Amino acid sequence: MCGIVGATSERRISEILLEGLKRLEYRGYDSAGLAVLSEDGRIESLRRTGKVQALKDAVGEHPLAGTTGIAHTRWATHGGVTEANAHPHISNDCIAVVHNGIIENHEKLREKLRGLGYTFTSDTDTEVICHLVNHEKQQHSDLFAAVQAAVQQLEGAYGTVVMDCEEPGRLVVARSGSPLVIGLGIGENFIASDQLALLPVTRKFMYLEEGDMADITRTKVTVYDQTGARVEREIHESDGQYDAGGKGNYRHFMLKEIHEQPAAVRNALEGRLVNGKVAPHTFGEGSLDVLKGIEHVQIVACGTSYHAGMVARYWLEALAGVSCNVEIASEFRYRQSHVHPNSLLVTISQSGETADTLAALRLSKELGYKSSLTICNVSTSSMVRESDLAYMTRAGTEIGVASTKAFTTQLVGLMMLVLAFGQTRGLSEDKQQNLVAALKALPAKLEEALLLSDEIEALAPEFADKFHSLFLGRGSQYPIAMEGSLKLKEISYIHAEAYAAGELKHGPLALIDAEMPVIVVAPNDELLEKLKSNVEEVRARGGIMYVFADKDAHFKGDESMRVINVSHCDELIAPIVYTVPLQLLSYFVAIIKGTDVDQPRNLAKSVTVE
Ligand code: G6P
Repeated sequence: MCGIVGATSERRISEILLEGLKRLEYRGYDSAGLAVLSEDGRIESLRRTGKVQALKDAVGEHPLAGTTGIAHTRWATHGGVTEANAHPHISNDCIAVVHNGIIENHEKLREKLRGLGYTFTSDTDTEVICHLVNHEKQQHSDLFAAVQAAVQQLEGAYGTVVMDCEEPGRLVVARSGSPLVIGLGIGENFIASDQLALLPVTRKFMYLEEGDMADITRTKVTVYDQTGARVEREIHESDGQYDAGGKGNYRHFMLKEIHEQPAAVRNALEGRLVNGKVAPHTFGEGSLDVLKGIEHVQIVACGTSYHAGMVARYWLEALAGVSCNVEIASEFRYRQSHVHPNSLLVTISQSGETADTLAALRLSKELGYKSSLTICNVSTSSMVRESDLAYMTRAGTEIGVASTKAFTTQLVGLMMLVLAFGQTRGLSEDKQQNLVAALKALPAKLEEALLLSDEIEALAPEFADKFHSLFLGRGSQYPIAMEGSLKLKEISYIHAEAYAAGELKHGPLALIDAEMPVIVVAPNDELLEKLKSNVEEVRARGGIMYVFADKDAHFKGDESMRVINVSHCDELIAPIVYTVPLQLLSYFVAIIKGTDVDQPRNLAKSVTVE
């Protein structure tokens, strides 16, 4: 989604802004722009559709000397992908604005501003902000007061940064619904929508809270809360753990992140299983006591994280005896749901900023949930800050839009949650120790699964000319089939659907022919025989299958069935292990199709608007 970078310094800042935008590329965007303010009070702006590189090239041709500036990567919501719609937007050559989020009352404001004589040059909701600030500046003369008056009229979500040609060296920022972080330097200060953008220039960060505004100059940062009172926000020192670094020897971030999974899982387990028990700090101090009083778990998430939640439901009910519902956040937040007594709201999110999931968390507080827990990868995110309990997945920065290591580490966290619930509910020692042993064996099992890479790469050409595909699984492998199909559609643009294999005869069998590959996830679990019957149903109708199966499941390959043997693993962790070959499959198919693997078209990494 959209990204923001801003800086005020004594040095030229266009390179810093461009590097910041480059680091935000992974979030997904379709155009980019920047505006800088030169010492003589002129705003110079450049915008380009397409990649940040196109903007860099433009800056190469027209160097910008400014020392204060704002920059943006846009992911279109209102108005098409054009240079005119790219940010920054500028009012009367003087007020420049970048904005993340959506202004819901933009039409009404646009009418009002047109009435006041303002001309609009874009189709965006953002342009109303710069004209509105300009208008308020006439009434208030001070930039901060003008922005304050303007944002009071905005409905919707915004993270916005405003620069004024009459006040060089000053940036005014406001946050409501879209995250912003201030980076503190020596004789220079920065603002961004994600600290990753600023890691080359600072390790000191201050996170703005909902409703905060900040006045930023080279030497001073002043923060005000939503009542307008001056407040101190804590300064965090980053250890750079979330600095993505480069791709190393890998061709894409996604491939690097797939291969990082054994290490990421080791990291996620580190220090959290002590004497065969979940260490008390794993979900936050006092969490085990909270879990004791919980009778029902409601999981809410989006995308890949939602699939992790679906796996957890199978685990929680079967192993820990805790009732559990799972729902997509955008549905949950707008539905009148029944709240079970003593319910725990669990959000799962790589970024911790997904707008719908965050809204669901906030709603749960109004609905009377007993407590909230987030399974999250970003320790400084809104979800971690606003949840009672948190499990940090410690996957490290994930750059590829298609989530991989974030998913497998989420599953580790959810398995630990099952164990923690089990501990408080008299799950037998034997069963607890089985879970612990399965988790400890996981990194090695993931390494074995990665060894299938060459075999899977060799299969990929068979998918490249296909338009549709079907993924099948049963039990806790059904969500893994869903995750496999999501990966394939995200990065190869092949239509992929997932079905619980038992549903085959209720519709999808009608689609089976030699042109639609059927991918089957078949560990050696208690549903194996049922799954084998489903496989026969596909075979009888001329379908071509790719079966990812445990060696001991004894599938025999033939011209209608390719069998990829996955080394044996405990049924408990099979959903995590079988995820890996499906990730590899989608990756290699995408390579053949020549798509943009790390930044697939139309998608964003962090979806901060609903
Ligand atoms: C976007 C990403 C997905 C991700 C989903 C939820 O759609 O492209 O990879 O699964 O958002 O994101 P979250 O950060 O909440 O896990």
